[in-house]
Amino acid sequence: MSKKILVLPGDGIGPEIVAEAVKVLANLRDAHDLDIDLDEALVGGAAIDATGGPLPEATLELAKEADAILLGAVGGPKWEPLDISIRPEKGLLGLRSELNLFANLRPAILYPQLAGASSLKADLVAGLDIMIVRELTGGIYFGQPRGIRELDGGERQGFNTLVYSESEIDRIARVAFDIAKKRGGRLCSVDKANVLETTELWREVVTAIGADDYPDVELTHMYVDNAAMQLVKWPKQFDVIVTTNMFGDILSDCAAMLTGSIGMLPSASLDERGKGMYEPIHGSAPDIAGKGSANPLATVLSVAMLLRYSLDEPEMADRIEAAVDRVLDEGLRTADIMSDGMTEVSCEAMGDAVVAALS
Ligand code: IPM
Ligand code: MG
Repeated sequence: MSKKILVLPGDGIGPEIVAEAVKVLANLRDAHDLDIDLDEALVGGAAIDATGGPLPEATLELAKEADAILLGAVGGPKWEPLDISIRPEKGLLGLRSELNLFANLRPAILYPQLAGASSLKADLVAGLDIMIVRELTGGIYFGQPRGIRELDGGERQGFNTLVYSESEIDRIARVAFDIAKKRGGRLCSVDKANVLETTELWREVVTAIGADDYPDVELTHMYVDNAAMQLVKWPKQFDVIVTTNMFGDILSDCAAMLTGSIGMLPSASLDERGKGMYEPIHGSAPDIAGKGSANPLATVLSVAMLLRYSLDEPEMADRIEAAVDRVLDEGLRTADIMSDGMTEVSCEAMGDAVVAALS
């Protein structure tokens, strides 16, 4: 039976980059016998404009039925005046929590062809290959109570709640240990156990799982402030990092930039059974939306992750990654990764080049 892929272009550069990734999927379907059905739906600001809300019921239904979801990006200045509870970002957060996509895998890999694009010295980042495993459906992003209330006397106070239950910590830790086992065998758990009880429990649970079930994985712990510093000081000390929702949000942007271009990095958000939503790490980049200059490679590489993790098609995934490697070797660059002596191409031309390199 064909696998169902739901495509959610979203906002800003989302539709442009997703169009190129869909070309890649369509090529694999038509020329390489990948048995898939593609469907498309609205999310984020595009959904607000069309239906009044960032996550229409119809989109959620299709997302639940799909085997995998490919998402572009959501959000933009147009919707910033809206109340936080109905902004485009809520569409994304709603999908994550409704589909129980608790495990967010964010690789930060440096393509040797792009070494010069990093803001760090080349020897600090050459060969960089880190996997950040971010908890995605809990923590302060979803904790209750939350809101803005009025205190006696009329002053307003904002409040959010950082909560993690043992089972939530347990399941994300196991995902990270399993990944570490298949990679370099090292896992660094990042917390703020010196200040926050929630992450004191986090550290306790991760330590116990490591000792009981993963004695062969080398487990270390790091406070988040130090982790931020170590990421720019000596990033290659890390293999796999596991951390909470908010710490992972922050550290993954930092790690992404080490590689020179956030426009190159894909991500996967998985549930307990391997169903997943795949999206580039970067956002909707409203400043360049519609100009045709966006980099579609993070989205194309998200398709590779989709094939590997949700469709069990590792060879198709390899094929895409090799094609991306080839277009970089050929010197093709979108504006964000452009450097001397290379050929600057549009988003569409980059997508076409990847498709051409597939065969
Ligand atoms: C990310 C983004 C989202 C997040 C936003 C758009 C809600 O920054 O995926 O990292 O904070 O999780
Ligand atoms: Mg983020």
